[in-house]
Amino acid sequence: MEKFYLTTPIYYANGRPHIGHVYCTFAADAIRRFHALNGAEARLTTGTDEHGQKMAETARKLGLEPRQLADRYSANFRALWDELGIQYDHFIRTTETRHIPAVHDMFRRCQESGAIYKSTYTGAYCMYDEAFVTEVEPGQPCPECQRPTEKVTEENYFFKLSAFADKLLALYAENPDFIRPEARRNEVISFVKGGLKDLSISRTSITWGIPVPDAPGHVFYVWFDALTSYMTAIGYAQGGEAEKEFKRLWPANLHLVGKEILRFHAVYWPAFLMAAGLPLPKGVYAHGLMLIENDKISKSRGNLILAEPITRTVGADALRYFLAREIVFGQDGSFSYDALVTRFNSDLANGLGNLVSRTLTLINRDFDGAIPAPPPRTDAEEAIYRKAAETIAKWREHFGNLEFSLALETVWSLIAEMDRYIVQFKPWKLAEAGEREKLAAVLYTCADVVRLLCRMIEPVMPVSAARIWKMLGETAELTNGANLENEHVAAGQRVGKVEAVFPRLDAEVTIAKMRTMEQEQLNANKPAEATAAPAAAPAPAPAAEPAAAPVNPKIAIDDFLKVEMRVGTVVTAERIPKADKLLKLTVDIGTEVRQVCAGIAEAYQPEELPGKKVVIVANLAPRKLRGLESNGMIVAAAVEPDGKPVLVTVPDSVPNGARLR
Ligand code: MSP
Repeated sequence: MEKFYLTTPIYYANGRPHIGHVYCTFAADAIRRFHALNGAEARLTTGTDEHGQKMAETARKLGLEPRQLADRYSANFRALWDELGIQYDHFIRTTETRHIPAVHDMFRRCQESGAIYKSTYTGAYCMYDEAFVTEVEPGQPCPECQRPTEKVTEENYFFKLSAFADKLLALYAENPDFIRPEARRNEVISFVKGGLKDLSISRTSITWGIPVPDAPGHVFYVWFDALTSYMTAIGYAQGGEAEKEFKRLWPANLHLVGKEILRFHAVYWPAFLMAAGLPLPKGVYAHGLMLIENDKISKSRGNLILAEPITRTVGADALRYFLAREIVFGQDGSFSYDALVTRFNSDLANGLGNLVSRTLTLINRDFDGAIPAPPPRTDAEEAIYRKAAETIAKWREHFGNLEFSLALETVWSLIAEMDRYIVQFKPWKLAEAGEREKLAAVLYTCADVVRLLCRMIEPVMPVSAARIWKMLGETAELTNGANLENEHVAAGQRVGKVEAVFPRLDAEVTIAKMRTMEQEQLNANKPAEATAAPAAAPAPAPAAEPAAAPVNPKIAIDDFLKVEMRVGTVVTAERIPKADKLLKLTVDIGTEVRQVCAGIAEAYQPEELPGKKVVIVANLAPRKLRGLESNGMIVAAAVEPDGKPVLVTVPDSVPNGARLR
C-alpha cells in the first residue's frame, strides 16, 4: 500500500484558532481523505507550537505560566479539529517530553556534520516573528510584519545555512514540484540566489524552550524545535516500534503551510535535514491567506472569524465546502458570511440536495423504496455515463494537484447535467404516463450518480456524504473509492428515509445568528482586564483571549495609564440596519468628534443619547464593525445577571476631553 504522510503547520498555542487556522487544517484533512479514498495509507500530523518568546510573553501578560497558556489553547485547537471532522493521526505538542530527544538528535547530527558553530549575534530581532532580522537596523520595522524590531546581543549556536545555497538550488532544479505553487517556487529560488546568511539556532535571552545539550543557558530557537516536530510526531528518535513507524512514514510527502512561513519550510528545513543526513520531504505547498472582507485577519484589531458559530449554525461541511469551492487554493481568498450562505443555497440546497431528494423521493413513491433495475441504456443514459467518467478523471487530476475549487466545479457540472437530464424526462410524470421502463432508467441513473457523488465529495464533506450514502441504502465502506470508475449502485437495494441534507437557509436570520454567536464567544473569552465595557461590541479582541477562567493579575500604574479614557458628549446616535445590538454614535471629545459603534442598542434608545456625557477609551486602534469604522470604545458597566450595559457617565460640568485617571 502506498503511503502518504502530510502535515499542517503546528499552530502557535497563544490564542484561540480562527478561520485562517481552520483553512489550512481543513485542506490537509481533505487531502488526507482524498488519498485514503484512493487506497493509500494516508497519515496526517498536526499540533501546537508551544515554546519561544511570544508564548512566554503572552503568558506573562495574562499572569499565566507558559505551560498553562499552552494547555489551554492546545486543547482549543484539538476540540475544534474534532468539531470540523479533521482526521488527524498524530497531534504533537512541542512541550511533550518525547520531543526533547528528537530535537537533541537533530542538533547532534548537524553538529557532527560540521554545520554548527558558536558565535555572537548583535542586531535586530523581531519578537512577533521570533526571528533575527539581518536586513534592518534594530528599532526599524521588521520587513515581514512591519512591527518595530528590538536590539539584541547574544552568544548563539549558528547553523551554516550559507553553505547550503548550491545544494538547495540543485534540489529545486531536480524536483520542480518541491515547492508549489510555481510562483512561490520562483520567489524562494530568488531568495536563495540572493545569498543565504548563517542562522542562529539557539537563544540565551529566553528560557522557555528546549535546552541545548551541554550548553547551559541556551535553549533552541523556536523554529529549529518546531520543524523537527514533523518527525517527532511519527516516532523520530523514540527508539523501538515508534522509530520503525518513523522509518516507514518519513520523508513526508507534503508539508502544507501558509505562504508566510514558506521560507522556513523550503529553505531552512531542507538544509537542516541535509546537514543531519536525513531524507528530505517530497514537497511543500504554500497556500494563500484568508482575508475577511478583503482585510487581513488581525486578532488585535478584532478582525477575525471564529469557526464554531459557523459550524454550529450551518454545519462543518458547509464551511468546508465553502473554503474549498470559493477560494482558489494557493491564492489569497476572502471570507464573508454572505458568500457562505449564497454558496450553501445555490450549490448545496438547490444543487446537490435537490438531486438527492428528488431521486430518493421518487424511488420511494414509484418503486416502493427499492432501486429499480436499469433497462438497457439509451443515448441519454450513455451521455450521462460519459460525463460521469470524464468527471471522475478530472476530479482525480484536480484534487491530486490540490486544485480543490476546480475539482468541485467539475463535480457540480455533473450535477447540472443531471438536472438537465431530469428536466428532459420529467420522472415525476412518467409514472402517471405508464412509462415504467423510462422511469426505471432515469431513477437508476440518478441513484447511480448520487452514489458516485458521495465518493467524490467525501474528502470535502464527509458528514453529508455519509448521510446521503446511508439514505441511498449503501452498506459498503464509503471511504473505499479506489475503484469508483467501475462501481455501480445495486438494483433492488432499499433506500432509507429521505431527509433534507441541506435545508435552504434564510440569509438574514442565519447571518445574524452567526454574528451574535461570534460576538458572544469573543466577549466570553476576553480577559478580565480587557472587559471595561463588556457590552460594548467594538472592544477589539485582546492579543490573546483565555478560553476558560478569567485571570485577574495585578497591573502596574503604567499599564493603567496606557488606556486613555476621556469624557465626551454624544452628538448623534442611530441604529445600524440588521445589527440588533449596535448603535452608531458620534461623540465630541473636545479635540474632535469621533464615530463609535457601541453594543448598547438593547439597553438604550438612540433618541435618549444625544447630549449625554459618556466616557470613551480614546486610544484604541480603529476597527470596522458592519462595514462602519468604530474609533474608540464607550465605557459601560455590565450589570449581571444578563450583562446589560449601563453607560458610565460624569456630571455635565466636566468638559469634553477631560482624561480619567
Ligand atoms: N508555529 C508556526 C508554524 C510552525 S510549523 C513548523 C506558525 N504558526 S501560526 O499559528 O502563526 O500559523 C500557522 C499557519 O496557520 C499558517 O502558516 C497558515 O497555514 C495558517 N494561518 C494562520 N492565519 C491564516 C490566515 N489568515 N489565512 C490562512 N491561513 C492562516 O506560523
